Amino acid sequence: MLRYYLAEDTINHSDVDRLISWLKTYPRLTKGEVTLDFENKWGQWLGREYSIFCNSGSSANLLMFYALLLSKRLKNKKIIVPSVGWVTSVAPAIQFGFEPIMCEADPETFGLDLSHLEILLKRHRPGAVMLVQVLGVPHKMDEILKLKKRYGFLLLEDACAAVGAEYHGNKVGTFGDMASFSYYFGHQFSTIEGGMVSTNDKHLADLLLMLRSHGWSKDLDATTHKKLIRQYRVDDFHSPFVFYEPGFNLRSTDLNAYIGLGQIEKLSMIIKARQKNHSQYLNRLGDYFYTQKWDKESRVCSISFGLLAKNRSERAAVVSALNSHGIETRIFSAGNLGLHPFWVKRYGKASFPFADRIHHTGFFLPNNPSLSAKNIDFISDVVLAAALRT
Ligand SMILES: Cc1ncc(COP(=O)(O)O)c(C=O)c1O
Repeated sequence: MLRYYLAEDTINHSDVDRLISWLKTYPRLTKGEVTLDFENKWGQWLGREYSIFCNSGSSANLLMFYALLLSKRLKNKKIIVPSVGWVTSVAPAIQFGFEPIMCEADPETFGLDLSHLEILLKRHRPGAVMLVQVLGVPHKMDEILKLKKRYGFLLLEDACAAVGAEYHGNKVGTFGDMASFSYYFGHQFSTIEGGMVSTNDKHLADLLLMLRSHGWSKDLDATTHKKLIRQYRVDDFHSPFVFYEPGFNLRSTDLNAYIGLGQIEKLSMIIKARQKNHSQYLNRLGDYFYTQKWDKESRVCSISFGLLAKNRSERAAVVSALNSHGIETRIFSAGNLGLHPFWVKRYGKASFPFADRIHHTGFFLPNNPSLSAKNIDFISDVVLAAALRT
């Protein structure tokens, strides 16, 4: 019987009651005004001009990759992708015919390894780089932005598991040309399923809006919509159903957006709770286990506490102890994506010393706002006792 889950819902009873009261007003539930309100409030919170709500973080990544391709700003279709992240941080590169080149993980933040990245940038001169902000630990953004300037690539930032983290006072998700976020159950906050792309670039935002809904122009601002109508000589009757790009339907609904509005209200409380838990884990376990590191001016906001055991057998012993005490655990994110069949089948194994170490020795502990200091002490005791016995 599990007593401590990795993920707990941030949609609590009062959120459900609030939702029920709203539903009792019999609103129209498909994407509409509430979605616009949620996108605006999110954009204000984050500090980005344009935000596009969609049905998952994976959909947000899909939209970013395709918008990048259609923007005609890429100098080529080569893209550096991380070895540590999520499958859908990389999958759209394959789906859209990019040439993905995998990068080793940084031994501090577990994001892109800067020296390997620079070797790849020199060798391949790629059009784009996909950076994952790993598990709410901000990457070394000054260095990444210097490389961006030097090598002239477009930057996609996957902040799906990093909402609330900050680098030198700037929120994670404000560094890339576009950034993606996930509101999946168990993430920093939840809209059941949900995702967002945020950007300051109007051209990219227009592409994202069209691609999210079939490729039509209805969701664009009136001026841009009318400009397209004039450019393509579209008559009024046809205008709502003219498709300017080969789009998808990756929309969410006003129901999910309504939940999101309530979650933004309590975001600072959620962030504080996760940070408190993270530092307690670090105090208890940081001397014994290898963990992510960040500089003093950054703020971490994690959804699980990730650790590396000394070796595979120590991890096996800890996992078994966690299981027998009803504490849920799992591998560290996806481990090294370069060892997964979807990658190996196409490009061969992408084995790197540090990403492989994460793959073979990494594991997660629960970090959600409902955990008390006592719970975290108990979980830490179980982990330490198991490790010390091996
Ligand atoms: C780094 C990263 N990117 C993308 C995703 C996908 O988000 P979603 O589950 O909302 O599709 C995840 C999910 O955990 C993730 O960790």
